[in-house]
Amino acid sequence: MNSPSEPASLDPTGTPAGQTPYSAWMRTDVLHSLQNPVSDHPGEHAWIAHVQVSELYWMLIVKELQTAQRQLRANNLGLAWRTLLRVVAHQEVLAANWRSIDWMTPNDLMAILSRAAATYGKDTALQGWTYRHMVYLLGIKQAEHLEHFTVQPERLAQLQQALVEPSLYDDLLAYFSRIGMAVPKAVLERDLSAPYVPSPAVEQLWRDIYAGPDINFQLQQIGETLADIAEGFSDWKYRHLMATRRTFGARPAYFGTEGVAWLVPTLDEIPFPELWSARTFIGNPPSGCPHMAKHKN
Ligand code: HEM
Repeated sequence: MNSPSEPASLDPTGTPAGQTPYSAWMRTDVLHSLQNPVSDHPGEHAWIAHVQVSELYWMLIVKELQTAQRQLRANNLGLAWRTLLRVVAHQEVLAANWRSIDWMTPNDLMAILSRAAATYGKDTALQGWTYRHMVYLLGIKQAEHLEHFTVQPERLAQLQQALVEPSLYDDLLAYFSRIGMAVPKAVLERDLSAPYVPSPAVEQLWRDIYAGPDINFQLQQIGETLADIAEGFSDWKYRHLMATRRTFGARPAYFGTEGVAWLVPTLDEIPFPELWSARTFIGNPPSGCPHMAKHKN
């Protein structure tokens, strides 16, 4: 008799009995058994599919970021860049995914949420560990969010590890240091679990990288791809905020405070801070205001 972990039988190519190669590989039977609505609202299917697709893509991005980190640690900047370009593409799917629940009014959302609360209790998306893992890898380290995972010890351990380990940005700065750039020791050896404090020296480093459009071209490409990733992250946050405004209004949310008021300040959480602050100083300003020159002529 087969043990529960063994497939019933294998054909010569390894496809379990009762499966096609496609269904075996993609686990379609399992995948499509994972949508269990709690309400009789017909739109709940779209809600569940939207959230589960987001979950899959956050995990995909976590894996891509970890791959890029390994490539940076092996000093392979080109491969890391290629991996990060894939992250930018995945983020577009996450942003477009909002479209499938744009039809929701507060009536629709409340019909679904009230049944979810009656079935499972009070929930918040802050209980989602994939998103938090991605955020930690992007360098936004906020330990307070761990409080939601005490009932999930394995997930808590996973996130605690991500909190104390280097983010993608830390690995890039370590790479910069290895190729001879002046990354301060205090930045490289700081407590990685604490929120990142922007450094004037790192800002200067980005200014140097962008000092001439044609020099340090590869490092500029990495910088631009990180800027794309930061923008993709912020785009998602903006779409989420507007979806909240549209379906929830000024209702109090999980913490009892107005949900929108809780979310608005998080829009300022933008990864890779010095890559942005350096832009004030990149590029030569014109010697005089062009409009004034026009008036003189
Ligand atoms: C459209 C209706 C939605 C409303 C009204 C809403 C509301 C909120 C609110 C008020 C918060 C702040 C924390 C809290 O009080 O719970 C929050 C956080 C969050 N929500 Fe939603 N949400 C909606 C849809 C979604 C969907 C569909 C997803 C996932 C695909 C999602 C993912 C998240 C995440 C990841 C956070 C944490 C954000 C952060 O840490 O900056 N939300 N949401």
